[in-house]
Amino acid sequence: MSASPTPTPRLLGVGGYLPSRTLTNPALETMVETSDQWILERTGIATRHIAADDESVATMAVEAGAKAIAASGIDASDIDLVLSATCSMPYAVPGAAATIAHGLGIPAPGACDVNAGCASFTYALAWAADAIKAGSARRVLVTGSEKISPFIDYTDRSVCIIFGDGAGAAVLAADDRGGVGPVVWGSDGEQAAAIQVPAGEQYLRMDGAAVFRWATSQMVDVARRACASANVAIEDLAAFVPHQANLRIVDSLARSLKIPTEKVSRNVVDTGNTSAASVPLALDRLVQEGRTTSGDPMLLMAFGAGLTYAAQVVNCP
Ligand code: UT7
Repeated sequence: MSASPTPTPRLLGVGGYLPSRTLTNPALETMVETSDQWILERTGIATRHIAADDESVATMAVEAGAKAIAASGIDASDIDLVLSATCSMPYAVPGAAATIAHGLGIPAPGACDVNAGCASFTYALAWAADAIKAGSARRVLVTGSEKISPFIDYTDRSVCIIFGDGAGAAVLAADDRGGVGPVVWGSDGEQAAAIQVPAGEQYLRMDGAAVFRWATSQMVDVARRACASANVAIEDLAAFVPHQANLRIVDSLARSLKIPTEKVSRNVVDTGNTSAASVPLALDRLVQEGRTTSGDPMLLMAFGAGLTYAAQVVNCP
């Protein structure tokens, strides 16, 4: 066998989908002992979206995936790998990826789900890039989709106020221009119980304050290492797209990294925390608002259940 040059991955296009039904803070005031003011001050969230009964992880991913494929200018049939990032499937088997591929008319791609909690999308994006570099795929659809509302106890005010449903998607392809930096990832299994659906139970339980402390103290170094490994100075980033968990976490990380607010994704305000969908939804919002220039470097970063985290610098589509 003769050696051939290593293919380089590039982000070609993104897409997003939010269910039409919304759950506002005043509506939550009628469900649990809370207030619009407390939620805004402690989380920055004003409203979130809730999927309809006939919407699922797969149907929302198909909506977002179709937009990402259209934005990429490729044909669905060109995709040879589909990775579905999610932690809110209502059952263990089967995963959503093959169903998503079928819904998009992608014939017989490799297909599997990736579950690293809210960090699932950034993990899946790294694996998509590695599959392209290794030559085992040429065009990859990565979806981040969550119907997390069935796992939320709407009598638990410490959890129900932050989460929402939605989906985002991205297409990565082998492209001479490259533009996907190395991933920096890791985990802290000692804190596994901080975000969990306890065995035999239906609802997500979270030690929000512990996760908050961990994220604001540990993720700054992760962000710095992701930029350093991509050889991109933090001041040269065109955008910072952190997991939309809580606006106070987003703003604290941006402050520590000295990234000005106008470069920071802050759509948690009207999406809530959509777990694995949050980074691709935020990316899609940046592109839709015309806030990005093709080829500019953005820092993507997510963290969540596990605890897990993953960050990488990716050039704008
Ligand atoms: O996406 C996966 C990763 N997850 C995250 O990143 C979540 C990170 N954590 C958070 O976003 C925040 O911790 C929460 C928004 C979940 C909670 O905010 P907090 O500022 O950390 O509040 P806390 O849990 O420390 O609670 C402070 C007080 C408590 O009252 P006492 O004990 O001081 O009297 C809570 O009972 O606020 C009370 N509280 C509320 N009050 C009104 C908790 N939730 C509410 C509420 N409305 N919804």
